[in-house]
Amino acid sequence: MVKNIAVIGLGYVGLVGSACLAKMGYNVIGMDIDSSKVDMLKKGKLPIYEEGLDELFQEVKSKLEFTTSIDEAVKKSDLCFVCVGTPSKKDGSVDLTYVEQAAKEIGESLKSLDKYYYVVYRSTIPPTTSQELIIPTLEKYSNKKYQKDFGYAFNPEFLREGSAIYDFFNPPKTVIGTTDEKTAQELLEIYKSMPNEKIVIPFVEAEMVKYVDNIWHAIKVDFANEIGYAAKQFGADGRLVMDVFCKDRKLNISPTYLKPGFAFGGSCLPKDVKGLLSLIKKKNIEEPLLESVLPSNYSHIKKAKHLIEEHAEGKEVVILGVAFKPGTDDVRESPAIYLAKELLDSGFKVYYFDPLVNAEKVRKTFGDFIDIKDEDFISLENAINKKNLVFTGSFTNLPKDTSLYKNKNIFDLNGVFYDIPEIRSLETYYALCW
Ligand SMILES: NC(=O)c1ccc[n+]([C@@H]2O[C@H](COP(=O)([O-])OP(=O)(O)OC[C@H]3O[C@@H](n4cnc5c(N)ncnc54)[C@H](O)[C@@H]3O)[C@@H](O)[C@H]2O)c1
Repeated sequence: MVKNIAVIGLGYVGLVGSACLAKMGYNVIGMDIDSSKVDMLKKGKLPIYEEGLDELFQEVKSKLEFTTSIDEAVKKSDLCFVCVGTPSKKDGSVDLTYVEQAAKEIGESLKSLDKYYYVVYRSTIPPTTSQELIIPTLEKYSNKKYQKDFGYAFNPEFLREGSAIYDFFNPPKTVIGTTDEKTAQELLEIYKSMPNEKIVIPFVEAEMVKYVDNIWHAIKVDFANEIGYAAKQFGADGRLVMDVFCKDRKLNISPTYLKPGFAFGGSCLPKDVKGLLSLIKKKNIEEPLLESVLPSNYSHIKKAKHLIEEHAEGKEVVILGVAFKPGTDDVRESPAIYLAKELLDSGFKVYYFDPLVNAEKVRKTFGDFIDIKDEDFISLENAINKKNLVFTGSFTNLPKDTSLYKNKNIFDLNGVFYDIPEIRSLETYYALCW
């Protein structure tokens, strides 16, 4: 069991982490390449200001030591948390110099270490960095093997400066990205007193989660600001509007709609986005985020078309699910119809199946936007017999016999087979977001 922890990189994340881990009872050795920082810390002075950190440092100083030697830090510990910086380069890409340098030096130290050691990165790193850069570097410089000689996890940090100590002990979630059971168990033990959900997932999803969180926060800020500014043009108090918006935990602030899948459609979302945008245009103001909502939605339909073009055999497809969502015959703004139109324009013959929709219904709604004949709507049995099956998600009551789908190209745009491993694992199963 882990008792001694090294923290590599003593910035905001590393310093707060060091003090909090010491408070939890661990012996902590903090390491940084910046000797002026380490000198200050050795004298009991903090190189940064963070609310409450000075007091916490004084309280736990008997459990803390500092060094500039990574070898010493590794040798004196059972596990290290790597918290080095990952700043932006001039072109916006992530500078992984410090991440790689730390991996090289930890690797060197592991060479002569006679125990199973745990390396845990907390720095924010782009998807695939663990698998393609960190683990190979650790293996190369240690001459040892991941999961045989050492464990590894990517464990993103969610603390915010200003409330970092509170956030360390009360994270919104604990994400442990690893494929190594032993590393997962050690981290779960370290975090067991924290009152939140612990999620163990593979590296790349954990890496992506951290980016998604921050991008979502950025979108939320943009969204609230654009809505607030638009609201003001109509004499509405943007703060009050967003306060009410946030009170709705059922549809607005919830997992609802936050499931990657196919484009949205229907009679409300596209209409209301268009409606507000047209009002905003009249006010002669710019709302680029809101303006990009519908183009983004349509580009998802195009991506579905490209997926089908890339993998379909022949130029014939059947779209299963034509309504804009399950349990309705409403085809208004249905992404299935826009997808069909894209496919027709690319020279495909398109058939349709939907238990609640017929060709007449589509013609009534879409007029001459799309050419759909009665005979293009076929039975479920005939549909499943076709080679290229496109599932939009608006028809979910599918035959359960998985053998029916073998040797078919399955385009699962909205996850109707997401929870059926026998179908998801077929070589001819294609999805857009997983
Ligand atoms: N600051 C935050 O609020 C916050 C929150 C969550 C995640 N993060 C992420 O955590 C990481 C660290 O952020 P930060 O704000 O603490 O960075 P920081 O720049 O304050 O600190 C990084 C430290 O790493 C040291 N360092 C660089 N290379 C080293 C090496 N090879 N060995 C040892 N030390 C080395 C630097 O000298 C510096 O002291 C980043 O990836 C960041 O995106 C930051």
